[in-house]
Amino acid sequence: MKPDLKVTIAGVEFDNPIMTASGCCGYGEELAGVFPLSRLGGLVTKSITLKPRLGHPPPRTAEVHSGMLNAIGLANVGIDRFIAEKMPFLAGQKTRIIVNVAGSTLNEYVEVCRRLNDVPGLDMIELNISCPNVDEGGMEFGSDPVMTEKSLAAVKKVFSRPVIAKLSPNVTSITDIAAAAEQGGADALSVINSVVGTSVDIDTWRPRLTNNKGGLTGPAIKPIALALVNAVYEKCRLPIIGIGGISSADDVVEFLLCGATAVQVGTALFIQPDAPVTMVRGLKDYMKKRKIASVERLTGKVRKY
Ligand SMILES: Cc1cc2nc3c(=O)[nH]c(=O)nc-3n(C[C@H](O)[C@H](O)[C@H](O)COP(=O)(O)O)c2cc1C
Repeated sequence: MKPDLKVTIAGVEFDNPIMTASGCCGYGEELAGVFPLSRLGGLVTKSITLKPRLGHPPPRTAEVHSGMLNAIGLANVGIDRFIAEKMPFLAGQKTRIIVNVAGSTLNEYVEVCRRLNDVPGLDMIELNISCPNVDEGGMEFGSDPVMTEKSLAAVKKVFSRPVIAKLSPNVTSITDIAAAAEQGGADALSVINSVVGTSVDIDTWRPRLTNNKGGLTGPAIKPIALALVNAVYEKCRLPIIGIGGISSADDVVEFLLCGATAVQVGTALFIQPDAPVTMVRGLKDYMKKRKIASVERLTGKVRKY
């Protein structure tokens, strides 16, 4: 039996359900030197903003038990250079390309998405709504259902391909935010972005990140992500892309069973850059062993007590 790894999200077919997560392989150029990107279901770019950003000064990453902290500060080349210099390479890859968009005002999100609308070779946008909103005193877009719905609705007006809302775990009720994103017109949800955390050097008494706090990622957050994927799956009809601490094919299966249609791999790339290739192989073996014909059959099949 040849297991079918294809999945469809918002009408877009992916060869397999394993993608790379935003911010963990830049714009794909370096990763293409490790393995052919056609082995991925899809590639998600670093968050792109209207203007280029240098991000926070170093140190902006720190290793912690079973994960890492980062406060990169959305360093990126800006939308114009992204379209001129990065997109031609990505458009030539035989994998799905998802461009992650960030902003500090609603207008910034809209303007970046408007400019992407005419660009060939990208399949979807993923909106990083875990960004401080300068017009609302720094409150994150994605922590408020009203702002979440507004952002999705505004972006959907200017971008005609599917839009994924990437949800933050740092909220009181992720299902309320998921419902607001759906209401605003999101076509899919990515669950989750990093979990707020910090770490302090006890010799210098200084935080290990110049931003004083950052986002925790890696195996430490997997159980949190699984629970949130399942909560969203039970409350919301949109397809879910599960993210958080995935480092093996077994982890991928866990996310699918909890309700994900596909997954993204982030921190694991820093340990093993070809981890997604190993995961695709492992997922195929798992399906063969258990005689599962299509990977889509695993979604949401956790047998809860
Ligand atoms: C160094 C680093 C940079 C990241 N940059 C972004 C980013 O620009 N935009 C975004 O939406 N998520 C970003 N993320 C979050 C990841 O896309 C992902 O949601 C998170 O790392 C959880 O997955 P993981 O545990 O597999 O790493 C970043 C994560 C890391 C580790």
